[in-house]
Amino acid sequence: MLTEVIQAADDDMNAAVERAVSLLLDGDVVALPTETVYGLAADAFSPAAIAKIFASKERPLFDPLIVHIASRRDLASVAQVPESIASVVAQLADAFWPGPLTMILPKSDAIPDLVTSGLATVAVRQSAHPVMRAVGKKLGRPLAAPSANRFGRISPTSASAVLKELDGKIPLIIDAGACSQGLESTIISIEPREGKKPIFRLHRAGPITKEQLQEFGKVEKPVLGDLHQPHAPGQLASHYAPRTPFFLIEHAQDFRPEPGKKYGLLCYRGNPADPHVACHDWAQMEALSPGTGKLAEAAVRLFYSMRLLDEAGLDAIIAEPVSETGLGVAIMDRLRRAAHDFSPPA
Ligand code: TXA
Ligand code: MG
Repeated sequence: MLTEVIQAADDDMNAAVERAVSLLLDGDVVALPTETVYGLAADAFSPAAIAKIFASKERPLFDPLIVHIASRRDLASVAQVPESIASVVAQLADAFWPGPLTMILPKSDAIPDLVTSGLATVAVRQSAHPVMRAVGKKLGRPLAAPSANRFGRISPTSASAVLKELDGKIPLIIDAGACSQGLESTIISIEPREGKKPIFRLHRAGPITKEQLQEFGKVEKPVLGDLHQPHAPGQLASHYAPRTPFFLIEHAQDFRPEPGKKYGLLCYRGNPADPHVACHDWAQMEALSPGTGKLAEAAVRLFYSMRLLDEAGLDAIIAEPVSETGLGVAIMDRLRRAAHDFSPPA
């Protein structure tokens, strides 16, 4: 299969949107930009189209997909929001939609079991990206879309990254440049409490931070061993992984290079005086936030920098930790899951 790439520059978005919609109406998959990462989209109501997502990503069927709605009104077609959480769902949607928050809600009958891997819940979000919104609106149906990478690999934050992952496996990529957030959406489920703010179970840290969510409820970890949880590889096993062995090393003095090996460094600022930068003659170095030193810049550059290092022919990649506050929580989560010696929390 030939993979076509169409630019969706502001002045010519319509042609790209129309091409995407015509493929989706035919039951095909299309890679589309969102504000977080590029997604591989298909008609969420069509099991045959959904099956193509799993096949082209080589994704196991037990890992459920996120459904994207084009407008708040469409929520009722994909989820059955219980009365007990209706007001907090509305508050969260008011505050964070369209945007990088995904809510796990009881699914509607219209959502095929394939989308949710047989779970009774569906993960829903409304993307803020103009292309994703325009395609969803024109199609008039919700879009199931996981990140547009092969299973277990680094999420794509540009059309060229999607092409590297899925060239020849999908018919179309809409190129709208780099993603503005760079990390996958924050995922929560919601538990109501009598007379108190609800509990939000944080299934995946992301651009909407714990601090932002705390205004509306109490943020806690998911309950391990809960039968309603999917065996979600994005949450449990090593994931977001480069092919090159990747190690997160907290203290620079703990790094023991083997002679003759080529090491790359994924660092935060790249300041020559920083211990991680100074401790070795790195074959290649990528800084997450060389400009502002801000976590938002680091988030945008994280997967891009991991890809650059992965493509550099190194023997191993060493990563410097970032401060685990605000957006840094999501960045550290991705670094840990990419690491070779990562084992899921007990
Ligand atoms: O930002 C994003 O969320 C991107 C863009 C494309 O929207 N999508 C994304 O999808 O990251 P994916 O498939 O790579 O990650 C979705 C995660 C998986 O870890 C999956 O297990 C979890 O969401 N998930 C989906 N449905 C779920 C459910 N019903 N209950 C619990 N987790 C669920
Ligand atoms: Mg993914």
